[in-house]
Amino acid sequence: MCGIVGYAGHRQAVGVVLEGLGRLEYRGYDSAGVAVVDRGQLKSRKRAGKLLNLVEALERGGPLAGRVGVGHTRWATHGAPTDPNAHPHVDCTGQLAVVHNGIIENFATLRAEALASGHELSSETDTEVVAHLLESEMAAMAGVDGPARPGALAEAMRRVCRRLQGAFTLVAVDGRDPGAVVGARRNSPLVIGRGQGENFLASDVAAFIAYTPHALELGQDQVAEVRADQVRVTDFDGSPAQVREYLVDWDISAAEKAGYQYFMSKEIAEQPRAIADTLLGRVGPGGKLVLDEMRLPEDELREVDKIIIAACGTAYHAGMIAKYAIEHWCRIPCEVELASEFRYRDPILTRTTLVIAISQSGETMDTLMAVRHARDQKSRVLAICNVNGSSIPRESDAVLYTRAGPEVAVASTKAFLTQLVGCYLVALYLAQLQGTKFGDEVGSVIDQLMRMPAAVDRVLDSMDQVRELARELAGERCVLFLGRHVGYPVALEGALKLKELAYMQAEGFAAGELKHGPIALVEAGLPVVVVVPSPEGRAVLHDKIVSNIQEVRARGARVIVVAEEGDTRVRPYADTLIEVPQVPTLLQPLVTAVPLQVFACALASAKGLDVDQPRNLAKSVTVE
Ligand code: F6R
Repeated sequence: MCGIVGYAGHRQAVGVVLEGLGRLEYRGYDSAGVAVVDRGQLKSRKRAGKLLNLVEALERGGPLAGRVGVGHTRWATHGAPTDPNAHPHVDCTGQLAVVHNGIIENFATLRAEALASGHELSSETDTEVVAHLLESEMAAMAGVDGPARPGALAEAMRRVCRRLQGAFTLVAVDGRDPGAVVGARRNSPLVIGRGQGENFLASDVAAFIAYTPHALELGQDQVAEVRADQVRVTDFDGSPAQVREYLVDWDISAAEKAGYQYFMSKEIAEQPRAIADTLLGRVGPGGKLVLDEMRLPEDELREVDKIIIAACGTAYHAGMIAKYAIEHWCRIPCEVELASEFRYRDPILTRTTLVIAISQSGETMDTLMAVRHARDQKSRVLAICNVNGSSIPRESDAVLYTRAGPEVAVASTKAFLTQLVGCYLVALYLAQLQGTKFGDEVGSVIDQLMRMPAAVDRVLDSMDQVRELARELAGERCVLFLGRHVGYPVALEGALKLKELAYMQAEGFAAGELKHGPIALVEAGLPVVVVVPSPEGRAVLHDKIVSNIQEVRARGARVIVVAEEGDTRVRPYADTLIEVPQVPTLLQPLVTAVPLQVFACALASAKGLDVDQPRNLAKSVTVE
């Protein structure tokens, strides 16, 4: 949800900033802009549409020289994606530029105030008012101290931030304080990259990983003043602040396409390795799960008597699957909740409720708010997250990182499978701790999990048939997805992928629910994808889904079956049969989700759509 880059160093800022924006474009692609400071003069350019439009404008208008700069790639909230609404926004003097991610909730009052005191505003955004507030603070300080001094922009930022409500990351540059780029954050991400003779600010480390792996976590309500040779961090009140420094453990190649047509195809292909990495070193002596950060005593986990999983979108589907595993292995009641609904329904939370927050980005505002609500109610929170040091794990009591590596495509794939692995591990850990499973039983599931990278590899080896099918169905208007048990959330996930990538009506249903209404959608030729449970598991489940297949076939549907190898009983009813390896029932989503990911990716590609950056979406949703 908006990508931000700031740079101060020895290179030309515009090149570094554009490169960083290219890596952050997954966060939003409604418009892009840059501003640089050169010998005390601010210069900026911005364009509606993708980053390419800005690059072309810069090529036409001549280079912007300067070694300090900011850039922004936008996911529109306030105001349409037009040139005037694009960031950076400048003040009345044209000396100061600011970029923003988030929403400033009291912007209407501040805007009215700015207009009343003579400022001229030219956009519909909430961001522009910040440029004018900063201008007023710079002017007020100049009135007292004479011309701006080094540090003036950071002080102006602190003063302005104290007046803002809502969620924001702000980064500004000013010709009157020429060596500095200043950033601030509240409820929205911002990381500092520490290089040699150069420093960076960015929404995500991907923006500067080509230059340095050294990162600093900017905390809540902090301001960073970044110069080529110095980083100063304070709270909004000006007191020096502590920041955690860490080393990013992946390099630039992980954030590049490496010969694949799309990031999404690369990330689908990376799934076996991502699962293996998530499992690596997780099981310590005595079968104990090794969490990355643990601020939660085992005694308290033994007392957990209810689990609530809060998540959004694909992560919510992972949570739905986790419920089956948790209730089966741990015998602890488990609810799965859309994070955006969680706190508004006044959920019953106690000290013995464990809330599991699942999030790839760790920045999803709905999930972050659910975490805060749970902790306010004194429940414990365990995060299952992919991005190291992001807000959700930082605010949780315990963390299991999924180690999928950077996920750049907007549609989540490897994050989903590794979230599942994370959930299975947590469930097994609780089962062992609470004594609902013996150590050897846990060990045997872990052994089966260890075989999953190879199983996913085999699925990936046989995807030509799925790609062919996707090309064939590219002209369809609607596709239904059906499943039972853990296959039901997989059906929902298959439908979500197709909706978001191919802009088709795609609906997922519990197969047993079909006859209660949705079967009216079935007409001759309608493609219906059915995720079939293993015949080796609960036979009754398999029988029931075969009946559901017959119900849709009787109404003329074209049935595409995803079933286990050797499932001869379903074969006669499949117009197309996609086979996946035999694995234990609860682990089956790890193999059945993969053909549905490939299907959506190939179908969107066949329609000529932008697979990695589907319309209206952004990767990290930092507004509620
Ligand atoms: C769909 C997708 C989204 C995310 C959702 C939560 O492909 O990617 O539905 O799963 O926005 O995001 P995170 O996991 O970052 O909290």
